[in-house]
Amino acid sequence: MGEFDGKVAIVTGAGSGIGRATALAYAKAGARVLVSDVNEAGAEETVRLVVAERGAAQAIRTDVSRASECEAMVAKALEAFGRLDFACNNAGIGGEQAATAELSVEGWDRVIATNLSSTFYCMKHEIAAMLRGRGGAIVNMASILGTVGFAGAAAYVTSKHGMIGLTRTAALEYATSNIRVNAVGPAFIRTPLIAGLEEAVLPLHPIGRLGTPEEVAELVLYLSSDRASFITGSYYPIDGGYLAR
Ligand code: NAI
Repeated sequence: MGEFDGKVAIVTGAGSGIGRATALAYAKAGARVLVSDVNEAGAEETVRLVVAERGAAQAIRTDVSRASECEAMVAKALEAFGRLDFACNNAGIGGEQAATAELSVEGWDRVIATNLSSTFYCMKHEIAAMLRGRGGAIVNMASILGTVGFAGAAAYVTSKHGMIGLTRTAALEYATSNIRVNAVGPAFIRTPLIAGLEEAVLPLHPIGRLGTPEEVAELVLYLSSDRASFITGSYYPIDGGYLAR
């Protein structure tokens, strides 16, 4: 018996990195998983990995920066699996690296749409589905850069700060509706998102290494589970000591 037997989860950006590890972890715990990503091949590969471990998953191509596609994604979870218990809003991009005065308006808009507006679009429909069921748990993938700045990443830092505000607000709104909403804040995790940055950012982690997608997935699963039944509106860094400096 898995802890999440009979439950259903959506993971966005689940075709790679942290999202893939999270989808695999939900499935391993017994949940059926809607594997959502704009990269269809990546999503299909994650489904293949879930099925290889005897889990249940379906893929859907979703561009989370488009509100209508987020609505369709939630509808697909209900159609395929009949309910929605968990959502990990994880899809995101690093975007253009430039100091604020040099950052293009298009670069700003793209990151805000992909990382922040997407979280609102997804939550809007996920919460509606959970209200029609027996509640649920949402975990938003923020970042350590949701609480501190990082030179050259104005849009990214702003998007992650915004995700934490959105998390706290929705948590207040649905605290008595059996829907918990939390955010996690990884430091640098070894995924394609930070390709080329590894050596430069390594010294920022007192623990002496970067994190793994599986370590972040572990925290997402805990916050989704009933073991975290008194936790809502919270932001949990997972950062090898990054914020302790
Ligand atoms: P990744 O690049 O391995 O995976 C991100 C996934 O999101 C990719 O499969 C990509 O296709 C998908 N995606 C991108 N734009 C999308 C869109 N418009 N619609 C749907 N899917 C889209 O990156 P990683 O590292 O796994 O990142 C996942 C999340 O974790 C992101 O929100 C990122 O900001 C956050 N994060 C990552 C950290 C790191 O160091 N890797 C640190 C802190 C937070």
